[in-house]
Amino acid sequence: MTTYRTLRIAMNGVTGRMGYRQHLLRSILPIRAQGGVELPDGTRLQVAPVLVGRNESKIRELAAQHDVEHWTTDLDGAIADPGIDVVFDASMTALRAKTLTKAMQAGKHVYTEKPTAETLAEAVDLARLREETGVTAGVVHDKLYLPGLVKLRRLVDEGFFGRILSLRGEFGYWVFEGDHQAAQRPSWNYRAEDGGGMTTDMFCHWNYVLEGILGTVRTVTAQTTTHIPARWDEQGQEYTATADDAAYGIFGVETPAGDPVVAQINSSWAVRVYRDELVEFQVDGTHGSAVAGLTKCVAQQRAHTPKPVWNPDLPVTESFRDQWLDVPANADLDNGFKAQWEEFLRDVAAGRPHRYDLLSAARGVQLAELGLRSSAEGRRLDVPEITL
Ligand SMILES: NC(=O)c1ccc[n+]([C@@H]2O[C@H](COP(=O)([O-])OP(=O)(O)OC[C@H]3O[C@@H](n4cnc5c(N)ncnc54)[C@H](O)[C@@H]3O)[C@@H](O)[C@H]2O)c1
Repeated sequence: MTTYRTLRIAMNGVTGRMGYRQHLLRSILPIRAQGGVELPDGTRLQVAPVLVGRNESKIRELAAQHDVEHWTTDLDGAIADPGIDVVFDASMTALRAKTLTKAMQAGKHVYTEKPTAETLAEAVDLARLREETGVTAGVVHDKLYLPGLVKLRRLVDEGFFGRILSLRGEFGYWVFEGDHQAAQRPSWNYRAEDGGGMTTDMFCHWNYVLEGILGTVRTVTAQTTTHIPARWDEQGQEYTATADDAAYGIFGVETPAGDPVVAQINSSWAVRVYRDELVEFQVDGTHGSAVAGLTKCVAQQRAHTPKPVWNPDLPVTESFRDQWLDVPANADLDNGFKAQWEEFLRDVAAGRPHRYDLLSAARGVQLAELGLRSSAEGRRLDVPEITL
């Protein structure tokens, strides 16, 4: 007979884009529907979400719509509730550090969206608090669970690239200003005073992507900018975009073998897509190259590398994209957010740390902070190691 154990998860920020779509709809509800996750001893670990939000009618409606029994507008009460095991946060970035601090102090395990804090000092304090309390803490590192990046990492593990030389990443799409067509991202994202900004938003992702694929980030050079100075908010009011909406970064990375890799990543909300996917990374090595997106990954080995010859007098005759081979998944790769949730839940059950923790997140916040400083000061900066 199967034994069941249930974790009660207070979910804060579930009326937001990420909290609702990726965490509630795509992760926790499907995990609940499949009867939880199986633990090594055969026990099934079930999840029981408790929805937390500021707006009573919204949160009650959401709970009813998805057959969730418990909801509350009292975040502090949920954190203090001895029946709650895990506190999850996908609320606005500016509110996060306070929520996570209270939750860990109350002995709760925490799972959270990124960035974990607005400043490095706060992010490091959170990582320290986790060490002191011994709770399990997980921070969303969703990009590493994307099928495209899983395949890319496999190529690295198999030694496909030889010596890795460089990575180039292209991320972004056009975010409408909100005047004639509604913006497809929340307005706080474009206000620095509300915790918005491309660098703050994306450099924490790029830090764990670079760590997860290549190695440790040692230096950063960035130019950040606000291409679109005015936007229109959810109420149709014009506002000044005080945050950067694009960040062009060059990162000096060191592989575990000690080889230097130059990584360049462009991130922009003011770019139109001429790519196969909304994010793409190309890795070039002495023995092969690969291009990975969210789902696809293609590769070209040294022995199959054509020899292009520069001749501006003739039209291109080669179809360069056709010269790459598809890298198979060789497994059923589920939604990345759900996959990480399942891993985190197993870590909570086992009472062990989660591999993508608050320290990794603090390195992400550090890279964002240094990126902004590099741009402001117009120079390359070293990335110091964080010790707790
Ligand atoms: N992992 C990823 O790829 C990814 C992508 C986008 C955003 N995020 C992160 O997720 C978090 C939420 O982003 P989002 O795009 O879902 O934002 P959103 O604006 O859609 O949602 C924010 C949530 O916070 C709640 N909230 C609580 N107090 C608030 C206040 N005072 N003002 C405004 N909202 C308040 C809102 O009700 C809502 O539920 C951010 O920290 C962001 O950095 C992560």
